[in-house]
Amino acid sequence: MLLQVLGTAAGGGIPQWNCACPGCSGARAHPERRRRHASLAVATGEGRWYLVNATPDIGDQIETHPALQPGPGSRRTPIAGVVLTDAELDHTLGLARLREADGVDILATAPVRRALTDRLRLDQVLGSYTALTWRELPCHGAEPLHGGARGPTDAGVRITAVPVSGKRPRYAADAPEDDAWVVALRLYEPATGRSAVYAPAVAVWSDALHRAAAEADCVIVDGTFWDDEEPRRTGISSRTATGMGHLPIDGPGGTAGLLATLSARCYYTHLNNTNPLVDPTAAQHKRLARLGIEVADDEMVIEL
Ligand code: MLT
Ligand code: MN
Ligand code: ZN
Repeated sequence: MLLQVLGTAAGGGIPQWNCACPGCSGARAHPERRRRHASLAVATGEGRWYLVNATPDIGDQIETHPALQPGPGSRRTPIAGVVLTDAELDHTLGLARLREADGVDILATAPVRRALTDRLRLDQVLGSYTALTWRELPCHGAEPLHGGARGPTDAGVRITAVPVSGKRPRYAADAPEDDAWVVALRLYEPATGRSAVYAPAVAVWSDALHRAAAEADCVIVDGTFWDDEEPRRTGISSRTATGMGHLPIDGPGGTAGLLATLSARCYYTHLNNTNPLVDPTAAQHKRLARLGIEVADDEMVIEL
């Protein structure tokens, strides 16, 4: 299985356009600290790729990676479609950037699809430019990630959604409750038996998520906040990290202690600009290293 990390920042990115906090200022002073919005590309095994989430940085994220660039010939893209983990704006605004496509294959859970069609009116708006094909991202069973022609049934990567929270985006706060508003993805490659879990937003470390993570070769997890008080301490929110739908890394019930029990390669992604980990010299990196955990880099290639 081949995964290309495309970005590792939470909503706003690093630096965020209207922010001069130490993390954002540090990234302006040290460009190597910049991080694009969290996203991943998954190779289908046919020279094509699915993007996990469509961020406001999607154009640059494609251009930075030769494997994702178009060609040969004009208007031939290796991007086969987009898988959505949730309906948050930092994970969906990039869909509008794909309107030049002949068509866009979108895998999403039912509540995420409804939010994008009923609230953001993406079907209506983008439908005038390109053909959106929606596929159900299943919580039971596994959907093949196909790019173009269908190969043998055990070829390529299969995807399953693992519900991680019922947190609705602010623009759909009154939409019906559903436990599949936010999901982790389990990516499984039958030919090699390898699997990965991608969970950029985790509100609850459920038994189902733990089972998927315990079986996986690689786990990429929500690293939005270092500790539960970070959003209040830094003044960006009146809520705690947990209250914002993001389990913190450190502290009781934090994800670092959970990841430390896994045999998988473990990485953090979706870092908020207030997270001390955005400074590569921060002592917190050493704490993670002792637990065998790393922060993912924007350009990281993961081969399983
Ligand atoms: C989140 O990850 O909690 C959301 O993306 C927050 C936001 O609306 O930017
Ligand atoms: Mn987010
Ligand atoms: Zn900032």
